[in-house]
Order: sequence, then structure tokens, then C-alpha cells
Amino acid sequence: MSELAGSRILVTGALGQIGTDLVKSLREIHGSENIIASDIRVIPNHPCILGGPFSVLDVLDEDRISKIVENENIRVIYHLAAILSAKGEENPELCELINVVGTRNILEAAKRYSIRVFVPSSIAVFGPDAPKHAPQITPLNPTTKYGITKVDCEIMGMLYWKKYGVDVRGIRYPGLISWQSPVSGGTTDYAVEIFHSAISSFQSYECFVRPDTKLPMMYMDDAIRATIALMDVPIESLSDARCGYNISGFSFTAEELSSEIKKHIPNFICTYKPDIRQRYADSWPNSVDDSVARNDWNWSANFKLATLVNDMLLNLKR
Ligand SMILES: NC(=O)c1ccc[n+]([C@@H]2O[C@H](COP(=O)([O-])OP(=O)(O)OC[C@H]3O[C@@H](n4cnc5c(N)ncnc54)[C@H](O)[C@@H]3O)[C@@H](O)[C@H]2O)c1
Repeated sequence: MSELAGSRILVTGALGQIGTDLVKSLREIHGSENIIASDIRVIPNHPCILGGPFSVLDVLDEDRISKIVENENIRVIYHLAAILSAKGEENPELCELINVVGTRNILEAAKRYSIRVFVPSSIAVFGPDAPKHAPQITPLNPTTKYGITKVDCEIMGMLYWKKYGVDVRGIRYPGLISWQSPVSGGTTDYAVEIFHSAISSFQSYECFVRPDTKLPMMYMDDAIRATIALMDVPIESLSDARCGYNISGFSFTAEELSSEIKKHIPNFICTYKPDIRQRYADSWPNSVDDSVARNDWNWSANFKLATLVNDMLLNLKR
């Protein structure tokens, strides 16, 4: 049985793309009453709100974080509240505030109350000077504000671990593809939007990156499995990659994705009109080397492009 069985768990930013799927899985594993979903916004009828305890929480509000942690006897936090890449470049000050100050507030609470914390990182930590097949260890010189906040959070996580013994863990997520919730301002959003457009009556999509744009991607099922696995693994198994493990799903170009969808929807047409997000995508690697995660906690992905497209279309049509 998991070391965390029966723990009370707080999820911040729970109404977002990852939180929607993560809260559902955590509630299945630990029991609905043990998972406190939270977010700065309220979406009536959202499954995270209907399915168990929910609290309004702004991660910039330190007192409220402490209150929830104390009142709910929280032992673990999955800290998902953030501003994503495309939105972050539009409003860099807000991105810095929510991503860095918000994370510091959560780490401070974790230090005070001895809490294990998951702080997600991203492939956006890599800059144009990193190898296109990005290794675990390489200079991190991102050119986006979002990427800089993710590097800051990895460094801050390591500092809290090394200086205060806070059990911080994190994954450099690739672009995530899921059907349960809408995407919200990331550079890899096209890989989700394309499915919604393909099954609509228009059967067409105008993609905001070039057809040859190749990025590391992952199906949400694999990302949730990785997240929960990393948080469950005994602390001794973790190495210095603990705050930002590379994990690999698969890589494809926008054109390869469109062609795979066409196999199911022959009339589907994808056109390409790159915008500013092309620049962010070009600064990131095509794929990542996840050998350290494989070695430390036996990570491996299940889904490939064909199985993902099949599953996405099946679920969205339903
Ligand atoms: N989705 C991806 O493809 C992807 C890829 C790499 C990394 N990540 C990282 O994973 C984490 C979660 O991503 P996501 O895709 O679920 O993001 P999302 O934008 O879908 O959800 C983020 C949630 O945070 C909430 N939020 C914003 N400001 C807040 C605040 N001040 N206090 C509390 N909540 C606040 C939002 O309301 C939203 O529900 C982020 O750290 C993101 O950088 C995501």
C-alpha cells in the first residue's frame, strides 16, 4: 500500500487542465473526503467541486494556505496553480507573481507543517541552447518568462529540500493532451484544440504553429500516472533531479498529428498560420531524455500517437 494512504491532500489550481484529471484519480485512490480541491475561481458543476471537498484558495494568500492546511490536517500538496506559457508572456509580471511567489508560499507552508509537495516544472525550462534531445542535466537558459519562472521554482524547490529538508518533488511536463477539460493559455494548446475542431461540424482547424513543429507531448493518463508514482516513491530513490525530472511520452509534428486525425476523419483539414507562440515552441527541445526518471522510479509511458488519437476521439465523441 502507498506510504501516503489515508493522507489528507490539498490540490491547488485544481480546476485547470491537470487538476481536473488529477483530483479524480486521487479521489479514487484515497477517498473523496481526503482530497481538498482548491482554486482561485469557482466553476459551478465542475467535477472537482461536485465530487468532494472544495475550497476557494488564492496561493498568494499565505494566511488562507495556513488555515486550510491546519483545519484540514493536510500532509501532501499538489501545487498546480500557475499561469501558463502563452498567457505568461502576455503578462510577465502576473506570471512571476503567481508562479514564483505562489510557489514560495506553498513551500513555506510545507516547511512549517512538514508537508510533501509536488511542484510541476515544464519543458519550458530549456532554452534554444539546450540540445534538441534534451538531457536531464544541461544549461537552463529559457527565453520565455514562463520558462524562467519554472527554472526559479526548480531551484527554490532544491533549496527548500537541501536547507530545510522539505520533501519537494517535480516533473518537467511535456505538452499535455487531454479531453476532460479545456486548455488555458499554453503553447501546446494546438494539440488539444485540433481534436475539438476535428469533431465539430466544421471539421477544420487553423493551427498556430508550422506543420513541421515537433515538440515533446504526453497523454494526460500517462502524466497523472507519472505524477502519482513520483509522489509515492520512497524518498531514498530520488536523486538531484527530484524537483524537475524529465519524462518522455512521444514527439510528433503538428502535421503528423493532423495526418493521424485524418485517418479517423477523412474530411478533416488543417491549415497553418503561425503566431507568436511559434517563437516559444522553437525555443524548446523536440524530445527529452528521461533515463534518470526511468532509473530512479521506473518511469515509462504507455501511450503513443496512434493510441492517443484513438482514445481522444473516442472520448470526445462520447
Ligand atoms: N498543461 C500542460 O501542458 C503543462 C505542461 C507543462 C507544465 N504544466 C504545469 O502544470 C501546472 C498545472 O497546469 P495546468 O495545465 O493544469 O494549468 P491551467 O492553467 O489549466 O490551470 C491552472 C489553474 O490555476 C488556477 N490559478 C491561477 N491563479 C491562481 C491563484 N493565484 N491561486 C490559486 N489558483 C490559481 C487557475 O484558475 C487554473 O484553474 C502548472 O504549473 C503548469 O505550468 C502544464
